[in-house]
Amino acid sequence: MDPNVQRIDVNLGKRSYPIFIGAGTLRLRAEFDRAIPARDVLLVTNTTVGPLYAAKVAAALEPRRCIQLELPDGETHKTLANVSRMLDVLVANRFARDACVVALGGGVVGDMAGFAAACYQRGIAFVQIPTTLLSQVDSSVGGKTGVNHPGGKNLIGAFHQPVAVFADTDTLATLPDRELRAGLAEVIKYGLIVDKGFFDWLEANAAKLLSRDTAALTHAIKRSCEIKAEIVARDEHERGDRALLNLGHTFGHAIESATNYATWLHGEAVGAGMLLAADLSQRLGWVGAEDVARVERVLQLFGLRTDVSTLSGATLADKMKIDKKVAAGRIRLVLLKAIGKSVVTGDYDDAALRETLRVRCG
Ligand SMILES: NC(=O)c1ccc[n+]([C@@H]2O[C@H](COP(=O)([O-])OP(=O)(O)OC[C@H]3O[C@@H](n4cnc5c(N)ncnc54)[C@H](O)[C@@H]3O)[C@@H](O)[C@H]2O)c1
Ligand SMILES: [Zn+2]
Repeated sequence: MDPNVQRIDVNLGKRSYPIFIGAGTLRLRAEFDRAIPARDVLLVTNTTVGPLYAAKVAAALEPRRCIQLELPDGETHKTLANVSRMLDVLVANRFARDACVVALGGGVVGDMAGFAAACYQRGIAFVQIPTTLLSQVDSSVGGKTGVNHPGGKNLIGAFHQPVAVFADTDTLATLPDRELRAGLAEVIKYGLIVDKGFFDWLEANAAKLLSRDTAALTHAIKRSCEIKAEIVARDEHERGDRALLNLGHTFGHAIESATNYATWLHGEAVGAGMLLAADLSQRLGWVGAEDVARVERVLQLFGLRTDVSTLSGATLADKMKIDKKVAAGRIRLVLLKAIGKSVVTGDYDDAALRETLRVRCG
C-alpha cells in the first residue's frame, strides 16, 4: 500500500472494517475494489463537495454503474425528506441488496447516506469518504447514522457500520479554516478523555496542524480514529464507556441550543464545553487549577473559543436538563480525573455545577 497511507481496523467481529488515512486514499484502487465488490453504487454528496471531489471518486469506482446524487449543503438539509430522495433513487434504479452507498462529504452527508443504506432493503453496504476533519476523526467511524427531526437533532437514526472508511487528507486543503479548527476540538477531546501523551503531542504540534501539515494531520486523524475505534469496539451501542466520547458535549449542546445553532459551530461549542467540564472537575477536587488553565491555553492555541461570558448561565443550566444524556432525572456528565483520564458520572455536586456556570457565564 501507498507509504503515505495508514490503515487501522475497527474490530466488531463480522462487521469489522478498515479505515484508510492519509494523502491520496482516494487513489487506492485495490482497497476500493476489495471494500466495494458491488457493481451498483449510489454516490451521495452535496453541492459544495461534489464539484470538488465527485469526479475523482467516480473515476476510482469505474467500471461500476455509479449513480450520483447531489444534495443541498447544510445541517438544515439533514432530513428524512432527503433520505427519502436517496431511497427513491435506489428504487428507481432497481438497486439490489448487493449495491453500495458511498457517502462523500462531511458528517451531514455521511449520517444521512448511512441511514439511507441502513434502511434500504433492511440494510445495504456503505462506504464513508469523509471530507471534513470532524467527519474524518468522528462521524465516519462508529456506525451512528441518522437525521434531524423538527423536535430535535439526530432523533431519527440507526446503528449501521460502514464497510470501509477512506479519509483523504488531501481533501482538507479546501476546508474553511473555521471548520478545520472545529474538527481539531474533537481531536483535543480524544487526548483529554484517554491519552495524555496525545494531548501533549497536540499542544506541541498545534502550528503544524493549523497549517495543514500532511504528516501531522495524518497522525492526528489516525490516533483519533484508533481511540474512537477502541471505545466503539468495547461498547458499540453506548451502554457504558462510549459515552466518554461526549466530553464537552452536554455543555456544548446547551451552548449550541442557547444560541439557536447560529453562531457556534458544533466543534467550537464542544471546545468551550470541555473547558466547562474541566472547571467543574476542578471544583470537585479531581483536577488542579493548572490543568484547567492548560486546557484553556491549548484550546486558545488552536484558535478555539473559550469565552462563554456572553451566554446566560441560567439558560445553559435549563438547556442541560433536557439533553438526551439525562438518565433517571440526573444529568450524567463526562468529567476529568486528570488530563487524559475521564469518567461518565452523575456523582457530582449540583452546587459545583451551578458555580461553574455562574463563574464562567454571564
Ligand atoms: N455519526 C456520528 O457519530 C457523528 C459524530 C459527530 C457529528 N455527527 C454529525 O456530523 C454533522 C457535522 O459534520 P461536519 O462538521 O462534517 O459538517 P458538514 O457536513 O455540514 O460540513 C461542514 C461544511 O464543510 C463543507 N465541506 C465538507 N468537506 C469539505 C471540503 N473538503 N472542502 C470544502 N468544504 C467542505 C460542507 O459542505 C459544509 O458546508 C452533524 O450533523 C453531526 O450531528 C455525527
Ligand atoms: Zn461532537
